[in-house]
Amino acid sequence: MTDQGLVVSFTGRGSLTGRAHVPGDKSISHRALLLGGLAEGTSRVSGLGEGTDILATRAALAMMGVDFEGDLIHGGRSRLKEPERPLDMGNSGTGMRLLAGVLSSLPFLSVLIGDESIHRRPMDRVAVPLREMGALIDGREHGRFAPLAVRGGRLHGIDYTPPVASAQVKSAVLLAGLAASGETVVHEPVATRRHTEEMMRLAGANISCSSDDSDYSVELRSSTLAPFDLEIPCDPSQAAFFIIGASIVPGSDLTVENVYVGPGRAGFLDVLVRMGADISITERNTNVADIHVRYARLVGTEIGGKEIPGLIDEIPILCVAASCASGRTIIRDAGELRVKESDRIATITSEMRAIGANVEPTEDGLVVTGSGLRPRGTVRSHGDHRIAMSLAIAAMCGTEPLVISGFESVATSWPTFVVDLEAIQCN
Ligand code: S3P
Repeated sequence: MTDQGLVVSFTGRGSLTGRAHVPGDKSISHRALLLGGLAEGTSRVSGLGEGTDILATRAALAMMGVDFEGDLIHGGRSRLKEPERPLDMGNSGTGMRLLAGVLSSLPFLSVLIGDESIHRRPMDRVAVPLREMGALIDGREHGRFAPLAVRGGRLHGIDYTPPVASAQVKSAVLLAGLAASGETVVHEPVATRRHTEEMMRLAGANISCSSDDSDYSVELRSSTLAPFDLEIPCDPSQAAFFIIGASIVPGSDLTVENVYVGPGRAGFLDVLVRMGADISITERNTNVADIHVRYARLVGTEIGGKEIPGLIDEIPILCVAASCASGRTIIRDAGELRVKESDRIATITSEMRAIGANVEPTEDGLVVTGSGLRPRGTVRSHGDHRIAMSLAIAAMCGTEPLVISGFESVATSWPTFVVDLEAIQCN
């Protein structure tokens, strides 16, 4: 590593072909660890995500007394004890916000810290409702930013409509609600991913969901969780890198197996189909499918409104697809991009322009005019794993080396990204 972090050079070698390896879903993995830690007894979870974000959540639970043994999690509320040291969540927004929900219901003090990026991301979005439920939460700028100190205790349910469409906020409130008196209700005018609800149901929680045209809501009553068995499917947000890679590199023919395609996660596939991508989806089990993709000529599209939460993490790589498409792609209603691991509206603009893309930032999105890519020279990850991987996929369109600095950031979600990409590059 240098002062620019890990510097890796990528060069396109032709099509992306074969069967791809993609890690277990990150969102599901965080929840499996947390719910397994709370469930009374031994749960069995296989296929956990492989990144440092997941290791951070696991280490935090271990510090509080949860026992991990291979695929087994020995959990239960009564074994959870006050952590002696701060819980370091690294780069993980999901880990920090969801754990804050769990800690709010536990009768002790915990301190949550993380890296430079996570200390810049808003935490008041969880601190506000968790305080309303009865937890004591403080942090920098009165709890707007980490480090966060959480003193949990007796909670009561609330009826809450988050001001931003965020599965992390919904999940933090529901995790606290597991031990709150009365009913905890969360309303979402724009629905987000449903893993927390799906997995609480699997663990026997007293939870129900309903929806109409203008509202998706979840109702939860205090519940003791039962241990569960879970095989975690592959992560659609990671699959998106290879699926889009195969869509834009001529001659590609790729299959990604066992991908989660349930509510709130597969929006990027709808967008790609709208753009003319050659994709076929074969369902394996409920919400899990194999995805077969071949190169196709893409056209621009408009992305906005209610579909944004279901593809927010895929916008960096969708911008790579949009650069290779003909016509204009307009992305709006995506202001949340500004508070991800980096300000992604700014980092997509600067790094994609550096490789020849025609990108205009707006307050809440981007306009990409398809003009092809000229990947060469040096670009930066800005410490953001999804920016790093999007640039690596963009490099597959070229024949000259593209050097990416700060590539170590991919370890947060996909430590084996480079070897998994090499395995599908044709020689
Ligand atoms: C996540 C929800 C999304 C997403 C993040 C993971 C989750 O964040 O961007 O990568 O696992 O709940 P928000 O819910 O804050 O939009």
